[in-house]
Amino acid sequence: MEEKVKYTKPQGDSWPLIKRCLGYFWPYKIFIAASFVSLAIVSASTAAAAFLVKPALDEIFIAQDERALVVIPFLLFLAVMGMSLFQFLQNYLMNYCGLKVLQQLRNEIYFKFTSLPVIFFDHNRVGMLMSRIVNDVNLLKSSLPHFIDLIKDFLTMLGLLVVIFYQDAQLALISLVIYPLAIYPFIRFSNKIRKLGRKNQLRISHITGFLQETLSGIKVIKAFSAEPRENRNFAHENKRLVENALKQLKYNSLATPVMEVLGALGMGLIIWYGGSKVIAGETTPGTFFSFLTALFMLYKPIKKLNKTNMAIQKALAGAERVFQVLDSREIREEKGGNIELKPPLESLRLEGVTFQYPGSENPALDKVSLSIEQGQKVAIVGPSGAGKTTLINILPRFYVQQQGEVFINGRSTGEYTLSSLRRFMGIVAQDNFLFNASVRDNIAYGLENVDEEHVVAAARAAFAHEFIMNLSQGYDTVLGERGVRLSGGQKQRITIARALLKNPPLLILDEATSALDTESERIVQQALENLMRERTSIVIAHRLSTILSSYRIMVMDKGRVLSEGNHEQLLEQCSLYKKLYEMQFKDNNILQIS
Ligand SMILES: Nc1ncnc2c1ncn2[C@@H]1O[C@H](COP(=O)(O)OP(=O)(O)O)[C@@H](O)[C@H]1O
Ligand SMILES: [Mg+2]
Repeated sequence: MEEKVKYTKPQGDSWPLIKRCLGYFWPYKIFIAASFVSLAIVSASTAAAAFLVKPALDEIFIAQDERALVVIPFLLFLAVMGMSLFQFLQNYLMNYCGLKVLQQLRNEIYFKFTSLPVIFFDHNRVGMLMSRIVNDVNLLKSSLPHFIDLIKDFLTMLGLLVVIFYQDAQLALISLVIYPLAIYPFIRFSNKIRKLGRKNQLRISHITGFLQETLSGIKVIKAFSAEPRENRNFAHENKRLVENALKQLKYNSLATPVMEVLGALGMGLIIWYGGSKVIAGETTPGTFFSFLTALFMLYKPIKKLNKTNMAIQKALAGAERVFQVLDSREIREEKGGNIELKPPLESLRLEGVTFQYPGSENPALDKVSLSIEQGQKVAIVGPSGAGKTTLINILPRFYVQQQGEVFINGRSTGEYTLSSLRRFMGIVAQDNFLFNASVRDNIAYGLENVDEEHVVAAARAAFAHEFIMNLSQGYDTVLGERGVRLSGGQKQRITIARALLKNPPLLILDEATSALDTESERIVQQALENLMRERTSIVIAHRLSTILSSYRIMVMDKGRVLSEGNHEQLLEQCSLYKKLYEMQFKDNNILQIS
């Protein structure tokens, strides 16, 4: 909300931006040309309608000409009909082009986003990214219709000016001086009302934020007996909201009466002036009323110019932000090599891999080297923040190391295509994401033409089949945000089924059971055993008891590999490992006592 208020104008030069926006509309040039022609006709018919007021009055009402009685209403009808028809065409065609361009831009931005490296998403709020796709692109879409409006209003104004000067040049000149003075209060009023409206929005968003925060944190509020304080805060916000609304109310209620009084005043003056000229025989009533009609009609485009200009500025600001993302050099698409990585996994080797997160002081990985052969199971242990998760994110090139190399089957991972590299690995992390889709589609995610029996087999091996069958729609049950919420253990088993079905040569488990209670941990652990069977695996275990046997264990701390060996060796060699082990042993005892 605040961001919107802040950027209502583009920061840079407008012309290149305008040109680029128009470039998107170029493929629709024929439609746009048709739209232009329509708008010229609309402008001309508007002026014609105003002009026809003169013969209508003079020929029909004053001269009482019967032929004119037939012809003029008909012409008037034609003029208005032409105006309406072409108005429709112009409006429809223009917005059609706008929507098509919107569709194109949304795709471009979304495709750009999904092609960006994972690290980009670490440092950008998802909300901001969504606003680029939804709000800013929408602003841009509306830019062209506004340009067209601008041109249309300009042409209409020209036409109407011709009419008023033609009918009464002297009065036209006088009006042009008085006109701005007359509409000035109106513009002031509407600006004020708009400003209050924006402020109102802001207040509402504050109060919504406050409600959301306090109601979801109600337990904490009650635990600290902070209800009175939060009530006071709410009352305060509420009061400010109403104060603003009252101001808005005042201006809104004042607007119409003030306008009417001013209008009546103007009307009186005009009738006095025009009447005296007609009585003096200096002009005909028809000429005078035609003039008056054109003058009134002039009001609409003039009033709209200001609005259109603001809309264009806003659209350009949106365009600028969209293009910033599309152009930005720092956020370059991730690039892989062009060799297909094919199973089996023969060897995995890291040599002096160093990685530092942008903006952080110390490297998260500091010259890490290790090597794994086919079929081995390697465990990585270390205190939190040691760099374990970072290390496994390097393998699929979610993050790219600044120094060192990762080799799979003798080649640097950078030489493989990203898709084959990532298909090669299955990662089960602590908290895995389920999509808003059926259980079946979640398990078969990213795979095409998967047989039902394979899905079920994977679910069985992951100990998920049984609970899935107990869901209301079995494998068709929708999961995720808008679907059924599963427990942590159930979610994890779905993820394991997903990994089983993908059948990757290299399996990576990142504290896959650490978020679970002991009961579901046991069953998930069994599912994991099925998944790891005969597969090269890298396991980051938060509970050392699960990896005591049959693993090569690497101990990491502060981005470095401290020591390597089996459990017994490490207990002797590595004091950090001994400490971690004893800490867990103690924790387990406490757990058992309590
Ligand atoms: N996205 C990130 N941006 C910046 N620093 C990060 C990010 N993720 C992790 N870190 C930092 O990198 C170090 C290693 O983190 P991580 O690999 O998650 O450790 P572990 O998995 O062993 O707990 C920590 O100091 C952590 O604060
Ligand atoms: Mg971690």
